[in-house]
Amino acid sequence: MNGAAAPAAPAVPATPATPAVPAAPAAPATSAVPAAPAVPAVPAAPAVPAGPMAANPPAPIAAAAPGKWRAAVGGVDVVCGLGALADLGDLARELGGRRVLVVSDPGVRAAGHADRASEALAAAGLAPQVFDAVGENPTTLEVEAGRDAAAGWRADLLVGVGGGSAMDCAKGINLLLTNGGSMEDYRGFGRAARPLLPAIGIPATAGTGSEAQSYALISRAETHEKMACGDRQARFRTVVLDAALLASTPRRVAAAAGIDAIAHAVESLVCRRANPVSRLLSRAAWQLLEPNFLGHLAAPADAAAAAAMLLGAHLAGAAIEASMLGAAHACANPLTARHGIAHGAAVALMLPAVVRWNGEVVSYAELGFAGSAEQLAARLEALRAAAGLPATLREAGVEAAALGGMAREAARQWTAGFNPRAAGEPDLLRLYELAY
Ligand SMILES: [Fe+2]
Repeated sequence: MNGAAAPAAPAVPATPATPAVPAAPAAPATSAVPAAPAVPAVPAAPAVPAGPMAANPPAPIAAAAPGKWRAAVGGVDVVCGLGALADLGDLARELGGRRVLVVSDPGVRAAGHADRASEALAAAGLAPQVFDAVGENPTTLEVEAGRDAAAGWRADLLVGVGGGSAMDCAKGINLLLTNGGSMEDYRGFGRAARPLLPAIGIPATAGTGSEAQSYALISRAETHEKMACGDRQARFRTVVLDAALLASTPRRVAAAAGIDAIAHAVESLVCRRANPVSRLLSRAAWQLLEPNFLGHLAAPADAAAAAAMLLGAHLAGAAIEASMLGAAHACANPLTARHGIAHGAAVALMLPAVVRWNGEVVSYAELGFAGSAEQLAARLEALRAAAGLPATLREAGVEAAALGGMAREAARQWTAGFNPRAAGEPDLLRLYELAY
């Protein structure tokens, strides 16, 4: 999520006691989950600096199960496995789709994923159309263009294929297409009065976890102010986790995305809305992501590491959906808005300082990391360095004079209010100074 940080809006949407989550299918539809392909052997582990966890590692979670599997995760129907993208047509038919708008971005389309999605839809007798005019931080104008494309195509189902931007744009298109108005009307939570179209999310990076979440982060075209627009109905009904899509992700993108997912696990674990279920998700996400992050960067075609990253990022996204984030995300948004630092890199700049500072009042032990908050922060710094991400705000090109203004902005970020340790403007300035 790159933005739970987003809203200047502030009314924290109350979590419905009984959310209207579409019922999960009763049983795995085997028709849509064909026989498993052979899972490539796991190559030798890369030389990854050992963290404290290595001294007492928990049993590894086998993300790359031999074959495909399907399960409802937090009310979302998750279909996981190498080659699962080929099942998209059958999955779309299950949701009643006939005319499908595939929302993607130029990079993901160039990698062939959007067209492969279209081919799978066409092979099942559906009529697909690709809309790929989505930029890095989707704007209101892009969502409106997508709405027009969906209306012109008379789409009855949407598919988002790509990173958080494409998936968030698909959610925004769905809101405007079915409920009218402008994105500003959906700022906050639960503003859609009429039913939305069914939609399917297919992440092409292991990062935001947007495919697990109700929120779309859309920037105002005029001001680039990010708005968080959430609705239970905007969540994807079905999510396809196909690790084969990660093989083409550029390393720079995979590094920022992966460290963002790790930050989601760490921040959601201790945030003020954390609960027993969200903490289970945070812990499982960490245990998939932390041991596989650098191996995935070193060998993107390693299916086992990619599968672990993809599932870990999804579970971290589900942890956010079930709880929230914290000060690292609050501080990251001004770094992105003012200095153009990619969201994941911005979060990585701030997270170690936030962990040390929070560690004075909360424990991160439930992650399963056998070490103190200081050791956890050091491990995060080691991962950041090995991934080639900048280590300090100074190194990232931020001027010291900018810290005060950024602290004022960070204090207005929604996520700041969920940090376990009260984080007002002076505290956030201190965190920026620590990260400088
Ligand atoms: Fe994030």
